[in-house]
Amino acid sequence: MDKFVIHGGHRLLGEIEVSGAKNAAVALIPAVLLCDEPCILENVPNISDVTISLRILYEMGAQVEYLNKTTVRINATGLQNYCVPYESARKMRASYYFLGALLGRYGKARVSMPGGCPLGDRPIDQHLKAFSALDAKCSIEHGMVDLVADQLTGSQIYLDVVSVGATMNAMLAAVRATGLTVIENAAKEPHIVDLANFLNSMGADIMGAGTDVIKIRGVSHLHGAVYSVIPDQIEAGTFMIAAAATGGDVLVKNIIPKHLEPISSKMRKIGVNIEEFDDSIRIWVDGPLVRTNVKTMPHPGFPTDMQPQITTLLTLAEGTSIITEGVWEQRFCYVDELRRMGADISVDGKVAVVEGVGRLTGAPVKACDLRAGAALIIAGLAARGITEIEDIYHIERGYSNLDAKLREVGADIEKVSDPVAKVEMKEAM
Ligand code: EPU
Repeated sequence: MDKFVIHGGHRLLGEIEVSGAKNAAVALIPAVLLCDEPCILENVPNISDVTISLRILYEMGAQVEYLNKTTVRINATGLQNYCVPYESARKMRASYYFLGALLGRYGKARVSMPGGCPLGDRPIDQHLKAFSALDAKCSIEHGMVDLVADQLTGSQIYLDVVSVGATMNAMLAAVRATGLTVIENAAKEPHIVDLANFLNSMGADIMGAGTDVIKIRGVSHLHGAVYSVIPDQIEAGTFMIAAAATGGDVLVKNIIPKHLEPISSKMRKIGVNIEEFDDSIRIWVDGPLVRTNVKTMPHPGFPTDMQPQITTLLTLAEGTSIITEGVWEQRFCYVDELRRMGADISVDGKVAVVEGVGRLTGAPVKACDLRAGAALIIAGLAARGITEIEDIYHIERGYSNLDAKLREVGADIEKVSDPVAKVEMKEAM
C-alpha cells in the first residue's frame, strides 16, 4: 500500500548515520532466552524484522520495554513456553534463531518453518544437522519444526555448506550443552562475531568466532548483560553506493571500516574515492565510473546482500560488467525493474551481464525483496525524473528510517500511503 516516491538527480551531500545491524539483532534478541536474568540491548535498529522478533518474545510471555528509541530491555526469565507463535514466526527468515535458543534453554523447541525473502531454495538441513549432532531429535510436520533433547551434548559439527544461520543456531544450542562443541566450516560474517561477543558477555565460553572453526565449551548458567549491536555493514554499503551513484560526497558515520573492506575495495575499482576514518567513511566521485566484475561469496568475500546495489551502480559505469551470484539461486528479480528504468542487463542463471548505460530514467517499479528494494532506491536517486517504488514493506524489514536519513543528505524521497488501497483492503477483510 505504501510506496516511495523519488524525484531523482540530486547529488547526496553531507553526513548519514548507520543503525544497528539487522542480521545481528535478529539473532541477539532470541539469544536473550538463554540467560537467567534481564538483558539490555543497545543500538537496536528500528526495522520490522526486529519488531517481529521482539513481538515473538512478548507473545511468549517475556517483558519487553524500550528504554529509548534504540535501547530495549528484555526480561525472559519467567518464561515457560517453548513454542513460537506461528503467525509471527512465518513472517521472517530469522525466526529460525528461536530454534537454537529455545533448544539451548529448554531442551525443546517448536517453531514454524521460516519465511523471508524469496531468494531460491532455502533449506535448513545444516541447522538440523547441527542440532542432531548435539543429540536433539528433529522432525518437521504440518509446517512446524520440532526439536527435543534429554540432554544436549557437545560434539563435532561439520557444516557441508558455509551457512550464517546454521553457524549461529549451532552456537545458540551449544552454549549451554555439556562439554565441548567444535563447529567446522563455520561462517565468518561480522554478525557471527557479534553473537559470540554477546554470549561471552553473558558468561559463555566461545572462541574462534570470525574464523572457520568455532569452539564452544558449554556452561550451566548465563547471566544478564548490557550489549550494543554492531553497525549494519549492508546499510552502510547501501549508503556508500547511493552516494557514488548520485555523484555525491557523503560521510557515512557509525561504521566499522574493517567490515566494509570487501565493499570499499570493489567501489575503488569502479572509480569511487573512499577515505576511511576510525568509525566513519567518506565517499565521493570526481571522475567517470568504470566497469568491473563482481562475484558474491561468504565473508570476507563480496556480500550477496550488496549484489543488487552494486549491479545498479554498474549500470551507470562505462563498459561491460559481469556479476556472478555465488550464494543464492535467485537474486536477480530486480533486473526487470531496472530495465524499466533504462538499464541494459541480461541474466543467465546466476550470472548477469551489465552493459553500462551511463544514466537511468525514473519509472514505476516494485521491490521484490529487501536488497532489491534498496537497489531500486539507489536507481531512483540517480535517475532523471520520478520513480515510484511499490511493495516497500520488503525494504522496511531491514532499513531503519531510510527515507528520513536520505532526506538529511539531500534526497528528494517521500513515503506516501495509498488511501484507496487501504479502503479496499479494509472492505476485503
Ligand atoms: N544453505 C543450505 N542449507 C542450510 C542453510 C543454508 O544449503 O541449512 C545454503 C543456502 O541455500 C545458501 C547458502 O547456504 O545457498 C547460504 O545460506 P545462509 O544459511 O548463510 O543464509 P541465511 O542464514 O539464511 C543470512 C542472512 C541473509 C544473507 C545470508 C548470506 C539473516 C537473517 N539472513 O541468511 O540476509 O543473504 O545470510 O550472507 O541473517 C538479507 O539481509 O537481505 C538477507 C537475505
